[in-house]
Amino acid sequence: MKVPRVDLRPQERPLKKAILRSISKIIDSGEFILGHNVKALEKEIAAYMGVPDAIGVASGTDALMLSLCALGIKQGDEVITTPFTMAANVEAILHVGAKPVFADVDRKTFNLLPFEIEKRITPKTKAILPVHLFGNPCRMDEITGISREHNIPVVEDVCQAFGAKYKGSRCGSFGVLSALSFFPTKNLGGYGDGGMVLVNDVQYSQKLRRLRTHGQQSKYIYEYLGWNSRLDEMQAAVLLPKLSRIDRWNAARAKAAKLYEKGLAGLSEVETPLATDGGNHIYHLYTIKAQRRAELAAHLALQGIETAVNFPLALHLQLAYNDGTWKEGDFPDAEWLCNMSLSLPMFVGISEKQVLGVCRSIRGFYRK
Ligand SMILES: Cc1ncc(COP(=O)(O)O)c(C=O)c1O
Repeated sequence: MKVPRVDLRPQERPLKKAILRSISKIIDSGEFILGHNVKALEKEIAAYMGVPDAIGVASGTDALMLSLCALGIKQGDEVITTPFTMAANVEAILHVGAKPVFADVDRKTFNLLPFEIEKRITPKTKAILPVHLFGNPCRMDEITGISREHNIPVVEDVCQAFGAKYKGSRCGSFGVLSALSFFPTKNLGGYGDGGMVLVNDVQYSQKLRRLRTHGQQSKYIYEYLGWNSRLDEMQAAVLLPKLSRIDRWNAARAKAAKLYEKGLAGLSEVETPLATDGGNHIYHLYTIKAQRRAELAAHLALQGIETAVNFPLALHLQLAYNDGTWKEGDFPDAEWLCNMSLSLPMFVGISEKQVLGVCRSIRGFYRK
């Protein structure tokens, strides 16, 4: 039985005609940049998230970078973040000239541990950047508590967690600013790159809108060193009809996750993902921890089942970012997760038969 790691076609097929009509209208209008689709998407996403404003940008990475820049973070500043994620958090921190300060994560939820964050605070700490990894919310009550106590803003990375909630509020509504990604495989994904900054404190709105358009205050008058980082009008038109489906899609992922959990229950070699207490996980990825991971992945591949190792090497050990500051063993739980995690097939439209087939194969492997 062939099961891809991700297959976007079942999700996209029913939307194709409506999206092609919207794109055709954009071509007829000639309004390609920051037109009414981007404005409508910004308004609808802000309302969905329960934040006062949202600003469409070119990618999730840019959303993080522009957020840090809007907060005035610069050379000499420190930003606390996780070493167990993809590179965008570190790129954003380094590109504004600041220093990433890593804190270790929880082996069970994959997310930053609040007390590890607190340990790393210094007078130079200017932001805390938690990542709701794989769709699982971070412990935001504790993280915002630390933020308030030390007067350090939180920038949430919600790129993998569109629609997730923590204790009743959307991930992305806790931080002063938060980043979304619309990369095609994300839970809310476009047909190319795209992102958004969620704005909880509107004092940053104008600066962010200027930063995304070359720092322009008015035409050809530049107030800040900015970027060309606008959300494309066509991507906004693709995303608008998907927004009304996102809760249904997230529920379908959660249903598949429940099936996996049942299908893998009692298997001592496998640990299934644990939703954070008080959080509703939206299963952007379904990532298990598995004994003999490489052999298991090879066994599944032989049967046509695709898996992925999302983060084989923690960020503090990557050549691109480590100037000698960190060494192996500095963040043992993040490193352990790099060796143990395996993402199973998960997408909207994955069938019960496919999920149960994957579980059967995994059981078969450990019985050998
Ligand atoms: C956790 C996380 N943060 C940030 C990003 C960056 O988003 P983008 O690819 O839109 O730049 C991603 C994308 O993979 C991500 O998974």
